[in-house]
Amino acid sequence: MHLISIDDLSVSDIENLFRLSDGFLEIASRSIKKVPTLRGRTVINVFMEPSTRTQSSFELAAKRLSADVINIKESSSSVSKGESLKDTIMTLESYRPDIIVMRHPRVGASRMATRYTNASVVNAGDGTGEHPTQCLLDLYSLRRVYGDLTGLRVAIVGDILRSRVARSDLFGFRKMGIEVRLVGPPTLMPPGIEYWDVPVYDDLEALADVDVIYLLRMQLERAKGKVPPVPSLREYSRVWGLSPYRVKADQRIMHPGPINRGVELSAELADDERSLILHQVESGLAVRMAILYQCLAGSLSEEPAA
Ligand code: CP
Repeated sequence: MHLISIDDLSVSDIENLFRLSDGFLEIASRSIKKVPTLRGRTVINVFMEPSTRTQSSFELAAKRLSADVINIKESSSSVSKGESLKDTIMTLESYRPDIIVMRHPRVGASRMATRYTNASVVNAGDGTGEHPTQCLLDLYSLRRVYGDLTGLRVAIVGDILRSRVARSDLFGFRKMGIEVRLVGPPTLMPPGIEYWDVPVYDDLEALADVDVIYLLRMQLERAKGKVPPVPSLREYSRVWGLSPYRVKADQRIMHPGPINRGVELSAELADDERSLILHQVESGLAVRMAILYQCLAGSLSEEPAA
C-alpha cells in the first residue's frame, strides 16, 4: 500500500488507522515502548526538506516497531551533488526496503517515487501538494478530544495558498463529516478556490461559531522571488494573529507546526490550555506507527502486540 494523498483512504480505512493508533498510543505509556511487529523490516526516511515533527516521529515509530531505519537528508546526501530523485530512489531500492517515507519540495515527488521502488511509499509532504499523515494525526487528535467528529466545525486560518496541510485537512476532515471553512486574506487563497466547494471568509468574524481554529504558518520560504502576499509579517500579525482574548473559552487551537510565536499566534496562546499543538505531536507518533503497520499489514502474520 502507498499513502500519497488523503484521498487514497476511505472512511473505514481511516477508522481502522484510529483503532490501530489507540493500541500504539497505549504502548507509548509503557516503560518498555517497543514491540516486535516490524522486526526484520526496513524503513528509509528520505527527507529533502527540513522537518522536526514528521521526520522524528516516523523514525521513532519505525524503531518502536523494531524495524531497521535509516535517514537520508538532502544536505548530507548525494542529491547535493546533483543526483536525481529517480537515481536516489533506484539506489535505495537496491537495499530492498519495505517502506520509503518521503518529504520533497516538489509536488508529485512521492507519487513519482512509486515508479522506481517496490516499497510502500508514504508521502511525508510534497511541496504545496499534500501532507496526508498530518491530516490523519489531526483527525486522530480531534477524535481523542471530541469523540464523534460528525458536525464538528473547524476553521483553517492563514496561508492556505501554499499549505499542503490545508489541502489534506480540508479533504480529509470533510470525508469524516467535519464542517470546514477557510479564513484568511484573499491574497493567501489559491486561484480557483471557488471550485473547492468550501466556504471562504476574509474576516476573523468567521471564527465566532467554530469549535476548532486551525492556524497555519506563513510560508514565506516558498515565496522567494515573488511579490509577498502580505505587506509584512508585522501587519499580518496585527490583523490575523490570534491571542488568548480573541479565542472563546470553549474553542480549541490547532497548528501543524512549526509555529511562529508572535506571527499567526501569540506566545501566550501557543502555551494556553486551549492549544492542542503538543497533543497533535503526541498523536502523530501513534498514527505514524499505525501507518507503518498498515503499509505492511497484508504481509504480516499477526495483529500488533498492543
Ligand atoms: N507539521 C510538520 O510537518 O512539521 P515538520 O515540518 O516539523 O515535520
